This record gives sequence, structure tokens and C-alpha cells, in this order.
Amino acid sequence: MSTATTAPEVQKITVRKVGGRLGAVISGVRLGGDLPAETVAEIRAALLAHKVVFFRGQDHLDEEAHEAFGRLLGTPVAHPTVPSADGRYSLPIDSDFGGRANQWHTDVTFVPAYPAFSILRAVVVPPYGGNTLWANTATAYESLPEPLRVLADSLRAVHSNDYDYAALRPGALPEQIARFREIFSSTKFLTEHPVVRVHPETGERTLLLGNFVQRISGLTGADSRDLFSLFQRHVERPENTVRWQWQVGDVAIWDNRATQHYGVDDSDEHDRKLRRVTIDGDVPVGVDGHSSTLLAPESVPDPAFGIPSGASTADAAAPPATGAAGE
Ligand SMILES: [Fe+2]
Repeated sequence: MSTATTAPEVQKITVRKVGGRLGAVISGVRLGGDLPAETVAEIRAALLAHKVVFFRGQDHLDEEAHEAFGRLLGTPVAHPTVPSADGRYSLPIDSDFGGRANQWHTDVTFVPAYPAFSILRAVVVPPYGGNTLWANTATAYESLPEPLRVLADSLRAVHSNDYDYAALRPGALPEQIARFREIFSSTKFLTEHPVVRVHPETGERTLLLGNFVQRISGLTGADSRDLFSLFQRHVERPENTVRWQWQVGDVAIWDNRATQHYGVDDSDEHDRKLRRVTIDGDVPVGVDGHSSTLLAPESVPDPAFGIPSGASTADAAAPPATGAAGE
């Protein structure tokens, strides 16, 4: 159809909203590492606007193509503690790994420069259930009454991967608890973030909370828990979320700096296998200009492969990573 040209053909994509606060389906694109820069720019713009975007029918993707597509959005990073699926960057999100992420969270917030984007691909889906929900942390902030916005602006919170897994998952088997301790929290991270993060690309203010929060800085016990719940509740309101029912070959990409998500654990013993590639983020900055700080360990150790999530040393003044969308 196109006349002789060496430039990759630009695919005409369409973007259709699926939720009032966040979420859009993008169609007319075959994801891979060879997308033209214009198409990548359109996807990135839709991702920033809608916070989570969904693609159907991407069955052709394998680990390598998934990672190659990820490179068009930025630099893939390894999980700080969990080994990858393929010895590279692809993280297994499997039902046999110890259950679903059925707690509201933002990925890897226990390190300072946690991922900017996560790209999740469905390989095996259960016959029912196993949906994922996302919540918009920018609209959660915006919709707060003003006195609460002022309070949130002034707070910081300590996030850690060393939480009480058994208490959160009362049905967990002893081997799942042991595996969690041995792998997920093999290195114990403590990071202090502002509760309100200024988004480095959109300038929006977002609530930075989720289940890695250990406490609100300067508070203890019930005061810390109550204040956390007060703000977290606004994130989780159903009107502030979108829910996705997975089909094999689906891909979801979310802006991890403006969302939380939740994997619903309701497909009984059926297999559910997804693969996640995460893209490096930068160190959050609060409304007062103060950045997040790593409290422990002294530095983020190297994972078995590649560079770790949160390894970015870009300081707050550095320009946002606009990605390698040009290649
Ligand atoms: Fe997650």
C-alpha cells in the first residue's frame, strides 16, 4: 500500500476511554520494538493522560519483544529482590508464586526512584476472576477537601518491603511466607517519600501511598494508621478506579507515578501467569521541593541481572526521562 520508503509505517491508533477517572483502550497497534517514533509518542501521550492503557491481541509478544517495546518508553530495570522470569528484565507475576497482589499498591515504592511505567502482559488467564484494578492517585488528591490537601502536602511516609506478609494474607501457606521472607524481603528497604508527589512529566500532584507504607513520618501507632487510612480511602473509592478482565495476549501499561493497582484474588486454584517489564523512574519530589530519601540500606544493591529498579541517581533537578522514543 505505501510507496517505496524506508521509514516504518505509522500505524493509525485509536484511543477509547473505558473509565471516568482513568483507563483507555488503544487499538490499531501491534506492539514491538520496531514502532515508529510518532506511534510511540501517541502511546506515551495517551498513557500520561489516561494513566493506564490496554491493548488486546498482542499474542505475538515474547519476552524479548516485550522488553524491546519497553525500551521505547525508557530503560528497563530489574526488581531489587525478585529474580526475573528469563534472566533479563521480565518479572513473573504468577499465581503459583505466592498469590496475587491483592493489596492496593504502587510498584516498588520501597526504593526512591521506583519505576515510572509497568508493562504487564497476560500469558495464561483463569476462566473467571483474576481481574486487575487501577486507581488514579492524581484525581484522589484533587478531590480531597482543601484542609486535607494542605495536610497531605506537609506529610512524608516511610515505605518498606519488610511488612507483615502473614498478617496481610491470613490464608498464606507456610512455604509462601518463607518464600516471601527469603526472596521478596531478602534485602530490607526503607525509603521516605513525600505523601504528595509532583509528577515529573505532567506536573500533577499525586498521593503516594499504598501497602508498602509502614508509617507516616513523625507519627506512630493509631495516629499513623488512621491518617494513612484517611488518605488511602480516597484513592480506593470505586469511582476513582477502573477494572480490567484479562484475555490472553492483553497488555496493560500504567503510569506507576500516578496510580495504584490491585490484583483480585478470586480465581480459586486456576493458573494465572503474567509478565511484567518495568521502566526506570526518577526520585520523587514533594510540593515543598524536598526529594525522597533512602533510609536503608546505604545504597540499592545490584540484582542478579541488569540495573536495579530505583538505581536512577537522577536528582530532582534533572529533566524527566522522556524516553528513547526516537530510536
Ligand atoms: Fe504490582
